[in-house]
Amino acid sequence: MWPYPKVIAHRGGGTLSPENTLAAMQCGLDYGFAAVEFDVMLSKDGIPVLMHDPEFGRTIAGAGSVAASLAAELQEMDAGRWFSDKFTGEPVPTYEQVVRFCRNHSIWMNVEIKPAPGYEQDTGRVVAEMTTALFADVGVTDLAHLPLFSSFEFDALMAAKHAAPNIPRGFLMDEMKSDWRAQMQELAACAVHTNHKYLTPGMAKQIKDAGYGLFCYTVNTPERAREILSWGVDAFCTDRIDLIDADF
Ligand code: G3P
Ligand code: MG
Repeated sequence: MWPYPKVIAHRGGGTLSPENTLAAMQCGLDYGFAAVEFDVMLSKDGIPVLMHDPEFGRTIAGAGSVAASLAAELQEMDAGRWFSDKFTGEPVPTYEQVVRFCRNHSIWMNVEIKPAPGYEQDTGRVVAEMTTALFADVGVTDLAHLPLFSSFEFDALMAAKHAAPNIPRGFLMDEMKSDWRAQMQELAACAVHTNHKYLTPGMAKQIKDAGYGLFCYTVNTPERAREILSWGVDAFCTDRIDLIDADF
């Protein structure tokens, strides 16, 4: 039984706000979403911050990288202007700030551990340790009130497993790996997170028959959402929070 919401706002507010910012979380809320996915990476000084790309140039103007920047420097950078003038000055938030915001607003979180290359284990460990501290008041069986980790990086999830075995893990695979069953077992993961573009009804059945949750990214039309749900998919994230209702 899937204990989490079915429809999740991707990167906070999908394509309606600057991804992975507090403004994005607020945008998701404004559209009625109380479930978000976001990406977490480590700064130079080992502070988890919300960011998708390891290198600047897209959401942060100029050259540079997250792993070479202090958290205090990142928090001074503009992560909103690339999206529109309205969001100019929107800072890069820390993971801790976003968890506190989400918990204050009863927003459930899918925390994607997104390490910069070479920082897989450190990122998994630090995010897991911080999550344990930030959710110390939530019982380990109260899954609906704990976040769900996910990552494309096996080593990051293994480190998270060692540091916080009670925070559930989903293994992200763009296309399903041939040895997915063995990797899921080693991770003690509860869910497969996969690209809906490559999912087939047969593969969905195999995953469900194996007893795992099944989460798809990133589903942006109601028609496609209905189709994959009919295959047994438990949940999906979407960029189009304006087209797909939270209670879809
Ligand atoms: O977690 C699902 C999805 O966010 C994975 O891809 O690149 O958008 O982080 P990406
Ligand atoms: Mg992501």
